[in-house]
Amino acid sequence: MKAIVYQKYGQPEVLQLKDVEKPTIKDNEVLIRVYATTVTTADCMMRRGDTLLSRILLGFITPRKKYQILGTEFSGTIEAAGNKVKKFKPGDEIYAFRGFGTGCYTEYKCMNENGSMALKPRNMTFIEAASVVDGASTALFFLKEKANIKQGQNVLINGASGSIGTFAVQIAKYFGATVTGVCSTNNMELV
Ligand SMILES: NC(=O)c1ccc[n+]([C@@H]2O[C@H](COP(=O)([O-])OP(=O)(O)OC[C@H]3O[C@@H](n4cnc5c(N)ncnc54)[C@H](OP(=O)(O)O)[C@@H]3O)[C@@H](O)[C@H]2O)c1
Repeated sequence: MKAIVYQKYGQPEVLQLKDVEKPTIKDNEVLIRVYATTVTTADCMMRRGDTLLSRILLGFITPRKKYQILGTEFSGTIEAAGNKVKKFKPGDEIYAFRGFGTGCYTEYKCMNENGSMALKPRNMTFIEAASVVDGASTALFFLKEKANIKQGQNVLINGASGSIGTFAVQIAKYFGATVTGVCSTNNMELV
């Protein structure tokens, strides 16, 4: 199968289209035909090897083999399911999050059925679904689980025009907060 691979840190030119081995499923996994994925700020930072501290994980001089395919979120259609899979079946349309597992810039991806994966809402396209996973789930996690957001609070979203920020504004409003968003002048109308 085809994949976008990077074997050295640098500008977008380090990304190369290559043939890589198609993954095979274990009993508790599904094989997904990837339809859409995203290029996030985090992907770009990893591609550049930013920050030096992150290279402890990614690899000091060149990216480690396990991080050479970027992409943290994707959507697609399940092609095959392992013998023990109960929650999903071939033909299901899903969207999923890999986080630091990365590896979404590929044609096929395996996911554990209990991984961060759900059926794609019918009223969303594959492209829309792939792009809500990281930003929305990060914003929701930090506002709800970490900050324990409450109705009537005043919330400042710094970077309100970004992937996480646009969701953070909407989620904070949903929980009944009074929201102030910070962004550059170009994005004021959006925010
Ligand atoms: N789980 C996690 O912890 C997690 C997950 C994903 C991402 N992240 C990190 O969270 C950060 C935001 O990610 P993202 O995907 O939302 O990025 P993004 O879409 O690129 O958004 C960046 C935001 O930061 C603002 N910004 C840029 N430079 C700024 C500056 N000098 N001063 C103030 N604001 C500035 C931008 O505003 P304007 O464009 O309007 O200037 C924009 O709102 C990144 O550092 C990313 O690596 C963390």
